[in-house]
Amino acid sequence: MKRIPIAAAALILVALGLGLLDLGLLDLGTPDRERFRGMVSPRLQSDKSSDTAPTIQAAGPTYVGRQTCLECHRENHRLHSHHGHATTFRSTKDPEVARRFAGKSYDAGEPFGTYTYHVDDQGLFVRIPDKFGDRPFRLEYALGHRSMTLISLLPDLQSDQDTPRSDRDTVALEHRVSWMASEGQLGKTPGQHDGPPQTAAELFGHRHEGRIMHRCVYCHVTTGEIVGQQIVGLTPNVNCEKCHGSASEHVRQARTMKTPPPFSVGRVDWDAESELQLCGDCHRMPRDITRKQLREYPDLLARFQPVGLLRSECFVQSGGSLKCTTCHNPHQSIDETTETEHEQNCIACHDETTPSTETSRKHTVCPVSPTTGCIACHMPALKLDGLGDGFHDHWIRVRDDK
Ligand code: HEC
Ligand code: HEC
Ligand code: HEC
Ligand code: HEC
Ligand code: HEC
Ligand code: HEC
Ligand code: HEC
Repeated sequence: MKRIPIAAAALILVALGLGLLDLGLLDLGTPDRERFRGMVSPRLQSDKSSDTAPTIQAAGPTYVGRQTCLECHRENHRLHSHHGHATTFRSTKDPEVARRFAGKSYDAGEPFGTYTYHVDDQGLFVRIPDKFGDRPFRLEYALGHRSMTLISLLPDLQSDQDTPRSDRDTVALEHRVSWMASEGQLGKTPGQHDGPPQTAAELFGHRHEGRIMHRCVYCHVTTGEIVGQQIVGLTPNVNCEKCHGSASEHVRQARTMKTPPPFSVGRVDWDAESELQLCGDCHRMPRDITRKQLREYPDLLARFQPVGLLRSECFVQSGGSLKCTTCHNPHQSIDETTETEHEQNCIACHDETTPSTETSRKHTVCPVSPTTGCIACHMPALKLDGLGDGFHDHWIRVRDDK
């Protein structure tokens, strides 16, 4: 097959707007981020007191970084290091990432050809010798902790020169080939366009721009803004302050007094609803999926745990008290939680000995298996096309198939 000429590199960023969107995976609604931020950030508090003497804190708290938390919250810091949240966004220079790709090749068959990878001190590069000659294409960032998808930020050569807005000038190319944890080898990135590549760009992957591109980075980092082809102010991964808000003020107070004022989750306005908004901002809320999906609830939605949980009777009938952290320590990876520990969470409610209180009446007990095996029958891990079988359906229910 004929080579796509080097000159076609000028067209490298013309690609079809297909991919994850078709699967509805990135069908994003409006995030309720500002609302949530107001709840966790102490900033609003200082704004409220602005009629009193202005202070140097008027600019609001700033990020201090997770190393600072180690000083006083050693255990949470240790746990978080092993959580998937600590490795959601890495440079391809990271040895863990490089190791997955270096020296490997992936035969995507016609019409895409064979991808070969090499690493040097500049990072990770891919070549497609039979289609793109010897030209190396640089892959910059790896998203994901088990499975890894590579992205690069590139100038958008198609942009309209009259409106040089930075986000118009940049596109993120999501690479065609990923490290697939469930297969333990390189494989095709879910949601990539399969038709014959019309441009050189489609050989390497598909392009994201505008809001989708920004959100892709937003959900995988603590701070950072795409400006041109750089990420300015990048703090990679989902760290402490992504969830708790900027902590400089908390740290300052904690250093000057034994009992610092309530911060973030310790504040009175922090409730179950705030927490669902927090986790759902990234793990997806019902607002992030289409109405059709919401009605039909295809298996694919197992990937979006808050969507399932919100329709569970466990949530609906427990006065909104059931939240993510009822079953997950937000700092501890699920890999470190045993099946038995998970069952204890269920039994904490579904047990005859659970006392009734004003808000929670006595709950039903399983007539089939009252003490064990709850997860496999009521919230099993489902096999999702191209995404492995690692997603537990958080719509907890009596299933026809069990
Ligand atoms: C800023 C976005 C973001 C927020 C907020 C967020 N997550 Fe995550 N979470 C992710 C990403 C991205 C991954 C995928 C990690 C990976 O594999 O790279 C993940 C993975 C996970 C995992 C599986 C990985 C593991 O090691 O256990 C759990 C469980 C989880 N999140 C729970 C939560 C809970 C509970 C909350 C709310 C308290 C939350 N997340 C808030 C982005 C987020
Ligand atoms: C709305 C927030 C959000 C956006 C936008 C988003 N992600 Fe994620 N991503 C998550 C969460 C949450 C997880 C963990 C649950 C899951 O795997 O679905 C995740 C998981 C992943 C994983 C799998 C990690 C693993 O260990 O298996 C990869 C790879 C990934 N994202 C890449 C991307 C890329 C590439 C983009 C942009 C094109 C993107 N994500 C956009 C929130 C997001
Ligand atoms: C994914 C979001 C998320 C991340 C990341 C996160 N936390 Fe938390 N954290 C929470 C939530 C939610 C709670 C409330 C838990 C509850 O109500 O049981 C919490 C509770 C806490 C608490 C009070 C309860 C306790 O466990 O002592 C401390 C202290 C804390 N976090 C510190 C940290 C530190 C330090 C880091 C980083 C090393 C961190 N958190 C990272 C979401 C997060
Ligand atoms: C100098 C010590 C110190 C440092 C540094 C520190 N904290 Fe704290 N933090 C405390 C103390 C003391 C409390 C009060 C509750 C307690 O005893 O754990 C607290 C409480 C919290 C709580 C629980 C909410 C509350 O008001 O009870 C969270 C969440 C938290 N810290 C997050 C963080 C994060 C995130 C960082 C790093 C960015 C951090 N802290 C750095 C001392 C510190
Ligand atoms: C916060 C308490 C709470 C927790 C934790 C909880 N549930 Fe529930 N669950 C309920 C309530 C309330 C109902 C409504 C029926 C009742 O009162 O028992 C319910 C209903 C159910 C039902 C019947 C659903 C239906 O559609 O009729 C099943 C099955 C179930 N739970 C399984 C589980 C499993 C499995 C777990 C653990 C993964 C779990 N629950 C954790 C409170 C809880
Ligand atoms: C009633 C208990 C329960 C609640 C509530 C709950 N989870 Fe889970 N979650 C589980 C269990 C059980 C697993 C499977 C753990 C394992 O494989 O070790 C799981 C797994 C996960 C995973 C890993 C991927 C997957 O789907 O298997 C993520 C991410 C996750 N939960 C996020 C959340 C978020 C976000 C919330 C809040 C909206 C939440 N969970 C609420 C019990 C719960
Ligand atoms: C072998 C599969 C299996 C296991 C294991 C299992 N269940 Fe069930 N469960 C069922 C089935 C099937 C039903 C429906 C029974 C019926 O309608 O007669 C059910 C019903 C329930 C109900 C609804 C009861 C009612 O009266 O409405 C709850 C709550 C429940 N299970 C919780 C649990 C919990 C908690 C565990 C773990 C301690 C568990 N189940 C383990 C299969 C299972």
